[in-house]
Amino acid sequence: MHPLKTLIAITLGSLLLSNAQATPAAASVSSSSQRIWISLGDAAYQQLQKLPRLKARSEASVAALASGPAPALMPGASLEGAAALEQVHLVEVDEAGLADLSEAVHQSLRRCGGYLFHASKEDGLRSLQRLSRPRQQALLAASKPSYVIDQQALVTPMLSQMQASNIGQTILDLSAHTNRYYTSSGGVAASNWLKTRWSNLAAGRSDITVEQFNHPGWAQKSVIATFKGTDNASELVVLGAHLDSIAGANTGESTRAPGADDDASGVASLTEIIRSLVASNFKPRRTLKFMAYAAEEVGLRGSQEIAKSLANQNANVVGVIQLDMTNYKGAANDIYLFSDYTDAGQNQFLSQLIQTYLPTLKIGTDRCGYACSDHASWNAQGYATSMPFESSFAADNPYIHSANDTYANSGNQADHSLKFARMALAYAVELGADGPAVTPPADKTENFSGNLTLNQTRSFGPFKLKAGGTLKASTTGTGDIDLFVKKGGAASTSSYDCKSDGNTASESCSVNSATNTEVYVLLKGYSAGSYRLTVTYTPQ
Ligand code: BES
Ligand code: ZN
Repeated sequence: MHPLKTLIAITLGSLLLSNAQATPAAASVSSSSQRIWISLGDAAYQQLQKLPRLKARSEASVAALASGPAPALMPGASLEGAAALEQVHLVEVDEAGLADLSEAVHQSLRRCGGYLFHASKEDGLRSLQRLSRPRQQALLAASKPSYVIDQQALVTPMLSQMQASNIGQTILDLSAHTNRYYTSSGGVAASNWLKTRWSNLAAGRSDITVEQFNHPGWAQKSVIATFKGTDNASELVVLGAHLDSIAGANTGESTRAPGADDDASGVASLTEIIRSLVASNFKPRRTLKFMAYAAEEVGLRGSQEIAKSLANQNANVVGVIQLDMTNYKGAANDIYLFSDYTDAGQNQFLSQLIQTYLPTLKIGTDRCGYACSDHASWNAQGYATSMPFESSFAADNPYIHSANDTYANSGNQADHSLKFARMALAYAVELGADGPAVTPPADKTENFSGNLTLNQTRSFGPFKLKAGGTLKASTTGTGDIDLFVKKGGAASTSSYDCKSDGNTASESCSVNSATNTEVYVLLKGYSAGSYRLTVTYTPQ
């Protein structure tokens, strides 16, 4: 079967058509099998072009397309980061030829296929285009979270009661299915099993719902557990992993594909987070969504449908984390933060969370170099994502996508996964605990007054400052008062963003912030005196 039927090559900022020439004979070739659209990176595509059978088909179709109107293509959100340097190709293939395609890429590049599925040509073009203007505006208006770490009192006890053995049991339960392929009965059964498992964990909590997300194109459903936020429910935080497994491109009903690491380990990590949050009776202020995606292994299909559906509703998703392969420690560092198709600010936050809550862990960075997991589906919709990974890309688990991706081949333990589960729980609680950002009126002021003795300090705040706004703190009074102001954490006489320490009680400091943040104020009596502190917000 000739997989390639039609091809469009896209580079950053411009549309390139292949230099191929059409021949009438080739142009008349038609296919009887089902055609689907995929996009893939240049490296993978270059390899495919070396296959003579594939080449003939694609040349004909490029010429056919060149005669039509050229779409105005722009660099896409899905091409962000270093991966953007690769040219991306949108290709129509016979679905039956996907096996050849995966095999060719696997053999020549020694990595997995890395293609994205698109429901149609238009759909493929759209996802390679820059985000639409209304969507960009919606995102600008959306809340950027404050990445202040201030929930130690809640997080620390939860971390200590999380157990590797629970994660290990869930990995065993999931990998006991013959496979979890997106069209197989095992894939369906695993989805039903997980829905029951998560529902049981949430029993007795009316604020938690567990649902299956139906995908019209195939049988396996995604599973979504939602903790509804108490007073900031419209802001969503998404924690994801993929439910499906695969063992080679010809995976069928009875192919053994345990997928213990890829990605029962991610789903099991989410399951332990849910268990711990419920055990601690945690009620988030933002809405938390735990997602086990169907059909990741066949082009991120489940997560694309879900991310698009939320983007179409203009959902205010403030952060997304993907756990795909967490239990095989293949390299020296514990957690590798992948840089491509992810958000640098959120990655920095994760790094801070690890340093705060798991200080013994070693952090690395790496990249896939292509849209390797479901975080890319959210990145394509403009949302902030992260993908913390079990190893460097080169030293990942060699057993994945085969019958040997078993719990035994991850050492019959889940200690590595536990690190990821703990980090992601800290992420869920720190982001989940934030209330709505305040938009104070321009003239909003708050006043505080009191007395200070020599060297006495007094703290005020946190004052919530919305992205783009300015906060001014000023004092009047008697004696000599010094003023210290800090964003994102408590101010001290040695740690501040602004200090005002003249030799009277009249001091003034202004701070502004591009993201939502929390501002802390400290007053110190340089000599005994009285103060009146005025805090004024000015929105953007
Ligand atoms: N878990 C893998 C991705 C992965 C593998 C990341 C090895 C890092 C190292 C994922 O399930 C997968 O196989 N993804 C596909 C891409 C997808 C778009 C079909 C892949 O890598 O080919
Ligand atoms: Zn995976």
